[in-house]
Amino acid sequence: MQIGILGGTGPAGSGLAARLASVGFETIIGSRSKYRALEVRDGLVEKWADLHLPLLAGDNHDAANADVVVVATPWDAAASTAKEVAEELRGKVVISMANAIAKVGHEFQPLVPPRGSVAASVQAAVPQAMVAGALHHVPAKELGDLRHPCVSDVLVCSDHPEATAVTIEIVSKLPGMRPLDSGELSNAAPIEAFVSVMLQLNVKYKTRVALQLTGLEKHFASLEAAKAPAAPEAPAEAAGDESAKADPPAKGK
Ligand SMILES: NC(=O)c1ccc[n+]([C@@H]2O[C@H](COP(=O)([O-])OP(=O)(O)OC[C@H]3O[C@@H](n4cnc5c(N)ncnc54)[C@H](OP(=O)(O)O)[C@@H]3O)[C@@H](O)[C@H]2O)c1
Repeated sequence: MQIGILGGTGPAGSGLAARLASVGFETIIGSRSKYRALEVRDGLVEKWADLHLPLLAGDNHDAANADVVVVATPWDAAASTAKEVAEELRGKVVISMANAIAKVGHEFQPLVPPRGSVAASVQAAVPQAMVAGALHHVPAKELGDLRHPCVSDVLVCSDHPEATAVTIEIVSKLPGMRPLDSGELSNAAPIEAFVSVMLQLNVKYKTRVALQLTGLEKHFASLEAAKAPAAPEAPAEAAGDESAKADPPAKGK
């Protein structure tokens, strides 16, 4: 699966590109300027030379030609950037990771974009695409640090079951990340807005927080158990399975 990133030259897009490429997704870093994308691609390839990252670079149209496309521009450019490549996005899964947040003095505040969330604005701009909101809470620096897993829950929401499934499939391949089906695209509003709380925590505690929800352990443990290969059958005798024992050969025949 090839993944393209619109606005892939920023910290979030380039970190995600490196992370996706590190698990084998051929990833196209998109930009308004092909040369800027090439520069960022070359920097990542050089930085992680031993990993031989399958990274490509192009303009946003090139990135939009991929199988799945991520929108990683600032929030106020997300819908218009997607609209510019609407033809390429037709019928595709599009992942919106943009958050509408403003810093007012020392305070981060969530903004309310048209239609309540950036993801909903993107969906309205490209109605023929299947938009999912995801990856809002993953800190860019950790995304791009391939020496460590990026431990975070990833809330995924969409009005299209296929977009949810594909996004979950992609995120589940990224070490440390746990994708969670968080319902319809209307939930993108609180998901995006919560980033403002996380940024406030980063400042207060001088760190970069990520999201980890509790209460899901049983669900994921039972999934793991279902996936585990069946235990090898015990030898018949040890199992006391009389029916498995061969009949003694009849004498004289
Ligand atoms: N930073 C994080 O930790 C983080 C984590 C999760 C989600 N996010 C979200 O991901 C998005 C990207 O974050 P970022 O920190 O990487 O942002 P950014 O550096 O401000 O922007 C990313 C890229 O978007 C392009 N861009 C900028 N202005 C544009 C415009 N007016 N029209 C079209 N493209 C434009 C630029 O690429 P070109 O100039 O090369 O076109 C830029 O490199 C944001 O919406 C953010 O809320 C960020």
